[in-house]
Amino acid sequence: MLEITDVRAILTAPAGIDLVVVKVETSEPELYGLGCATYTQRASAVGYAVDHYLKPLLVGRDPRRIEDIWQSVTGSAYWRNGPVLNNALSGVDEALWDITGKLAGLPVYQLLGGKCREAATVYRHADGRTLEEVEEKARALMADGITHVRCQFGGYGGSGAVPPGAAPDWATSGVVGPVAVFDPAVYARNTRRLFDHMRSALGDEVELLHDVHERLAPPDAVRLASDLDQYRLFFLEDALSPEHPEWWPRLRQHSVTPIAMGELFNHPLEWQPLIQAQLIDYLRIHISQIGGITPARKVTHLCETYGVRTAWHGPGDVSPVGHAAQVHLDLAAPNFGIQEWAGIDERLQEVFPGSPQLIGGAVTVSDAPGLGVDLDEEAAKRFPIRDRLPGWTHTRLPDGTAVRP
Ligand code: CO
Repeated sequence: MLEITDVRAILTAPAGIDLVVVKVETSEPELYGLGCATYTQRASAVGYAVDHYLKPLLVGRDPRRIEDIWQSVTGSAYWRNGPVLNNALSGVDEALWDITGKLAGLPVYQLLGGKCREAATVYRHADGRTLEEVEEKARALMADGITHVRCQFGGYGGSGAVPPGAAPDWATSGVVGPVAVFDPAVYARNTRRLFDHMRSALGDEVELLHDVHERLAPPDAVRLASDLDQYRLFFLEDALSPEHPEWWPRLRQHSVTPIAMGELFNHPLEWQPLIQAQLIDYLRIHISQIGGITPARKVTHLCETYGVRTAWHGPGDVSPVGHAAQVHLDLAAPNFGIQEWAGIDERLQEVFPGSPQLIGGAVTVSDAPGLGVDLDEEAAKRFPIRDRLPGWTHTRLPDGTAVRP
């Protein structure tokens, strides 16, 4: 009988970002699976949950009973839908899909219903400290065949980021811990200037996107969305925070720009009402954050019913195993919209052979059975995690108020 013999978390940071990957081994020699469990801001907590809580629940069980394992492991914690445990479970879930694909001799997209397209169109990211710098980066991406460009002025602190030299005294005193100072009014003004510049410089054919990163108060976000309508964005991302669902209808009343939302979602009640009321156009969940391929597949079908498309969250804090899981879903989903693509550099390729490949403006996976990505554990050891928090999660307004980043 085929059974799970070991479950463990592997933590590594080949590109300087802490990644968590779960390896599930079985009683069949050489048959194992890998899954992404990356919650980079709490990487060690996820690793602990995998090794100390999930392994004892799973050893001895049949790895092909994916749905049953997902349901019973979720219930075993009693308190559920939180990011640490969802990520831990995602690592196991994706590994089980990987194992089942290897057993069947089929890539995971075949288990999901087969290809609806040959490759998944991506958007890539252009930012800079000046309008010209953003334009230059966008042009370089377009020259490489990228058709969809997300433009940010001033990087992820946005153009509202206050440089350390100009920060108020309280910000450098240490009393309130680490600080990234951000001015929402400056950000909103500069974002209007950015798209005015980009549209006139690049013309109408390129698709432009923007991420508000929930950095504005709800009425200011509504006004920005309305002001940006004239630039015909492909979508506007995270205009509101998950804590303000009551504002989505108002945003719809005032803007025709397509809306993308969801990288912070953990709980089904965060996405179900928005999809059913058609208040968003693209759902961009961080797949490991909701528990892996098993729930993501169901969310995809729910979206299809309501005319919402997928745009899974694909930054550098998703492992190449997690990127592969997304692309398998992208290929098999009739309602695929677009895929965020942060890129997989040489160090990541070395640790994760078989990673998805970007060809022109689209990404694809190999036809190898399972997810198609392996993990070189010796190489992974050369890139230990740092377990330190990135600066942008410590955002405060110019008067010192702590806000969500
Ligand atoms: Co985002």
